[in-house]
Amino acid sequence: MVQVSAVLGCVACAEAVWVAASFVRPRHHDAEGADLFVAGPVDRFEPNSVTAFPSGRFYLVRLTDGAFLALHRECTHLGCTVPWDAAQGRFACPCHASSFDITGQVISPPAPRPLDYYVVRVENGVVKVDTRRRLSRSAFDASQVTGA
Ligand code: FES
Repeated sequence: MVQVSAVLGCVACAEAVWVAASFVRPRHHDAEGADLFVAGPVDRFEPNSVTAFPSGRFYLVRLTDGAFLALHRECTHLGCTVPWDAAQGRFACPCHASSFDITGQVISPPAPRPLDYYVVRVENGVVKVDTRRRLSRSAFDASQVTGA
């Protein structure tokens, strides 16, 4: 009986931690009701850099021209998480060897299309990512990036 109480106590504690964490998670709803993930101030991200946001399940890419692109971290082949390989300058899937360039375009198959992306907004010098809607694409184009 003591063990059951202990287990129930642990479940209650885990639930309390989860509720508390949901309050400190860096999100807010904007005036249009979009669910935005606050990535941080623009200056935090160097041009030609990739920053992982595991809790948001995306990478924030800052391109060489200073524009931002948010890439979903799942491979478009079978959904493995694709790590960024800084030394190689590419995303390299550990499952079946697909690779993607910094804009998420396929370098090596079997991935059938580029990494999905999210809309990025820069508001008052702060980068925010709309993680509510994941967008697929057949190729990279300038409409997918947001200037600083
Ligand atoms: S899941 Fe990435 S290559 Fe298959």
